[in-house]
Amino acid sequence: MSFIRQAAALTLWAAGCAGTGIMTEAKTIVKKQTFGQTADGTSVDLYVLSNKNAMEAAIMNYGGIVVRLKTPDRNGKLEDIVLGMENLDGYLKGHPYFGCIVGRYGNRIAKGRFVLNGVEYKLAKNNGENHLHGGIRGFDKAVWTARETGAAGVEMSYLSKDGEEGYPGNLAVKVTYTLTDDNELRIDYSATTDKDTVVNLTNHSYFNLAGQGEGDILAHELMLNADRFTPVDSGLIPTGELRSVKGTPLDFTKPTAIGARIGQDDEQLKLGGGYDHNFVLNSGGGRLALAARVHEPRTGRVMEVWTTEPGVQLYTGNFLDGTIRGKGGKVYQRRYGFCLETQHFPDSPNQPEFPTTVLKPGGRYESTTIFKFAAK
Ligand code: GLA
Repeated sequence: MSFIRQAAALTLWAAGCAGTGIMTEAKTIVKKQTFGQTADGTSVDLYVLSNKNAMEAAIMNYGGIVVRLKTPDRNGKLEDIVLGMENLDGYLKGHPYFGCIVGRYGNRIAKGRFVLNGVEYKLAKNNGENHLHGGIRGFDKAVWTARETGAAGVEMSYLSKDGEEGYPGNLAVKVTYTLTDDNELRIDYSATTDKDTVVNLTNHSYFNLAGQGEGDILAHELMLNADRFTPVDSGLIPTGELRSVKGTPLDFTKPTAIGARIGQDDEQLKLGGGYDHNFVLNSGGGRLALAARVHEPRTGRVMEVWTTEPGVQLYTGNFLDGTIRGKGGKVYQRRYGFCLETQHFPDSPNQPEFPTTVLKPGGRYESTTIFKFAAK
């Protein structure tokens, strides 16, 4: 049978099964809308993915930003649960990485430099003396080329040029967002290079499962599948140690309210102004595994984070300070959102003991993270 005839037969079979419970057709739809223009006149589009449960994920191709994410609470009430700006102009004026794709290297690289194959590469220092989230014009500020995928998603592509923000190699990056009928927002990342380089991609969504702008996130109960974390110095650079969380306020191996210990007299919490730490996932990375589960008691919303990455940064919005007026005019006070940034460990290019972030020509960077929503 030719390929085309085979495909047609499969489609007929799938159609026949629909309604029998054996197989249901994907109900997710993608709608493309104009979202605005950048300063140089490049138009930016918003891709609105929605599934059979009315869950909605709206993603724009400026920064690959998740602009809106609506999920049901225990009564089926939909609410937008990610922080963000009211419109494109708000994002263009600057924001603390709301919802964006972070790259070429998510998190910090000490002193904005690293050595690869005996050559020193100098990066922008945009966080004190350190490099943060890909530099001054990271992937969060790029206009990505977007196209709808057959599987109810949107694929974003970006070519990061050799030397961009100081990194070696032309890096061809693809990030695909897919919304499934199981209420999962799935993010698949891939990249190839023409010179040895370092890569560490993530998504920087700020969640508040009670609804964006609806108070702080301190009552959210968090479970992290991590027995160890990477302690940091005053610049939030890992010391190199993988320290046990046992007996510390960083122990989330059992579900615990984020706010239960955040004010404790603990050296690491003081350095981070709260939680701003990379956790070493027990899975070790390389296979899709449960990294975190978060439960918001008032609305019942639950979010699970699954990832192939070896680490996750828990950031509790410690730098939010009420100066940002976001979506719906909501003012974002300190700790109004939390991030779970799946990643390789911060400063890996300078830490030979950490899992490597080096990508070589002929190799392929691949990473998957799933945010899965439910309510109880
Ligand atoms: C990351 C960092 C934080 C902070 C935020 C953005 O999560 O670890 O220290 O820079 O991004 O404000």
